[in-house]
This record gives sequence, structure tokens and C-alpha cells, in this order.
Amino acid sequence: MTESFRIDPWGASFVKDYERLMREFGIQPLTDEIIKRLPNPHRLIRRGFVFGHRDLEVILRAVEGGEDYAVITGIKPSGEYHLGAKITAEEFIYFLSLSPKARGFFAIADLEAYADNKVPLSKSKEIALSNLMDLLALGLDPKKVYVYRQSQEISVLRMAFLFSRAVTYNTLEAMYGDKPFGLYFSALVQAGDILLPQLPEHGGPKPTLVPVGADQDPHIRLTRDLARKYREEFGFILPSATYHKLIRDLAGREKMSKRNPMGNLYLTDSPELACKKIAAAYTGGRATAEDQRRLGGVPEVCTVFVELLSMHFVEDDRLLKEWYHECRTGSILCGECKARVCEIVSKWLMDHRRKRRKVADIALKLIEEGTLS
Ligand code: TRP
Ligand code: SF4
Repeated sequence: MTESFRIDPWGASFVKDYERLMREFGIQPLTDEIIKRLPNPHRLIRRGFVFGHRDLEVILRAVEGGEDYAVITGIKPSGEYHLGAKITAEEFIYFLSLSPKARGFFAIADLEAYADNKVPLSKSKEIALSNLMDLLALGLDPKKVYVYRQSQEISVLRMAFLFSRAVTYNTLEAMYGDKPFGLYFSALVQAGDILLPQLPEHGGPKPTLVPVGADQDPHIRLTRDLARKYREEFGFILPSATYHKLIRDLAGREKMSKRNPMGNLYLTDSPELACKKIAAAYTGGRATAEDQRRLGGVPEVCTVFVELLSMHFVEDDRLLKEWYHECRTGSILCGECKARVCEIVSKWLMDHRRKRRKVADIALKLIEEGTLS
């Protein structure tokens, strides 16, 4: 581990060089062989946005062999869901859908939200309810999931304490830089989140998958290290992970953060607001219409093409390819293109809003009681 290449999951740090990340930290590439073994590979996987993994074979074997496995994700409830959070949510739902034996765990990281953003614990619950409505509207099967808040989950807190015995300040400082202890403690709590599905109360050791953005890798490494150290005591199987690329904001800046509201599309935005954001989004268009007709646009750098269409709003690979071609050859200009996107996104948002309303009661029950049963 080199000091010069440190990933800060709480900072504005972003990962430019995914190759280097994989090389230095031992993340495996998501190869075609592995993708072939996945049933109906998800859009984000087909298109390479999910680029790497650790021990995904362990999960594939569980799927193929009909054995129990867990998928765990967490959300820091510091605001409404945006397109970045939607990536993790979709991966979570996809990997849960692969087998009737899959169990989902959804950690509401209210302690981390307090440590990082000073969100009061009472406020967290409200925000988390809205986040959970998004997850359900996106297709999460409520019967498969256990939902909890970190601050209320004694098993997670107890594990965080037990783990703290094996972690020194120097280790944390080397991994995360000099941070307040609240953040270090959140990292231990997150290790507790990830290993919770393997405790006896949830059926004991089992393959566990954590789909994350590349910025979360230090937490995954820490957790795998702890799972190794506590293997004798708990029987842990090292958790597996998949990694996705971080989404840029609509201004084309690398990390989509919750702090710049105009640069993010929220799943609760009105169509009008969304279209305003789309109209202002950074594109790969040329300086003049004439240039663009002659030279074509550059979809590779365009947030409309990459972040909106490829990552989120065009499911059909052929349609996406045609769109790419139209842009490349200059047969479509950015204004017309954005008008089309605005229409697609508006429809999606209205549909999503309807779905959210339908699942509101289920979300409330899950927040209050953890499960539907
Ligand atoms: N740290 C994650 C974030 O910033 C949230 C989180 C908490 C999490 N516990 C988790 C993610 C467990 C995956 C697994 O968004
Ligand atoms: Fe982006 Fe569309 Fe303009 Fe191409 S035509 S650069 S895809 S906005």
C-alpha cells in the first residue's frame, strides 16, 4: 500500500486511474468469462461500468449450487437518492435477484452520516425512509431484505467494538489519512455491517457480496482483513465485492456529490427541474452547429451520453449504439438530443414517482420492523 495512492471514501477524492487501483490493491477485472456465468447480465455490467471484483466466484458458486448467500449494501442517509446511489441500488437488486436463496441486508448508515455530515440521528430515519422507497420502486423484493439503522443494531456495534482490538491507529491512518475518530469508528461499524449476515442470528457464515463504488475499497480491504483475523472466532468467509466506476456530475466533474444540487439528478426531481439540469449538462458538442454537422460530437466525454443514457436511461444496447452513431456522425445536434433525453427522463421520473407512492407503506414497515415477516 503506497501513501501516494490513497482513496478517501469521505473526501472529494475520485479515482481517475482504475487500472492502477486494481493493480495496487489487487482488485480482479470483471472478465468476459465471469460475465458469461451471470444470468441476464445487468446493463451496468454489460457496459463495463462495473469493472472489477474480489472473490465474485464465491458468489457465483453459491448461485449455481443453490446455496445461501447474502448481498449487503448501506446508504449514508444524507440526502435524496441521486444517480450515483441508483447504481449501487441496481446492483444490489440485481445480485439479489439471481437466486431464491439470496438474502439482502440494507444498512442505514446513520452513525456514519452523523460522523461525516452531522446529520442528526432522528433526521436520518426520515431521509432513509425516502431512500428505501426509491430502492423498492427500483425493484427491491421487500420479502428478501433485512433493514436496520446502525445506531440501533447492537450486533453490528458489538462487532465494531470487538474488531477495534485488532486495529491500531497507525493502520487506520495509513489507510484513510488523519481523520476524526468518528470516521475511523464508522469504518469499523461498516465492517460490522458487512459481516452481520454471517452471525448465527442470520444463519451463520455464508458467502457475502458487497457491491460498491470504487471509493469504498478501503472499507472492503479493512473488512476482509478483519474477517481473516476473526475467522477462528466467528467462522467468517471473506466477503466478496464488486466495484463500479464513480459517476461524474452533470458538469462533467469527477465525483457526483450530494453537495451540488444542480449537478445531480435526484430520483425525486420533478420533470421540469430534471430537464433544466439536462439543458445545462456538459456535452461533447462542438462550438458551432456547423462544426458539429461536419465533425460530429464526442459522446465519450458527454455526460448526456455516458451518465444519463449509457449508465441509466437506455436499456436497449442496440438503441444506445444507434444513438452513439448519430452523435458521432453529426446527424443529431445537442439541442435536439437533449430534448429527446428530457422526454425519456421525464417519463422515467413520473413512473418512478408512481411506484414510490405504491411502496410507501412497505418502506415504513421495513424501517420500523426490519422485515416484512
Ligand atoms: N460508507 C457507505 C457510503 O458512504 C455506506 C455504508 C455503510 C455501506 N455501511 C455499508 C456500504 C455496508 C456498503 C456496505 O455510502
Ligand atoms: Fe452528447 Fe447528444 Fe451532444 Fe452527442 S449530440 S455530444 S450525445 S448531447
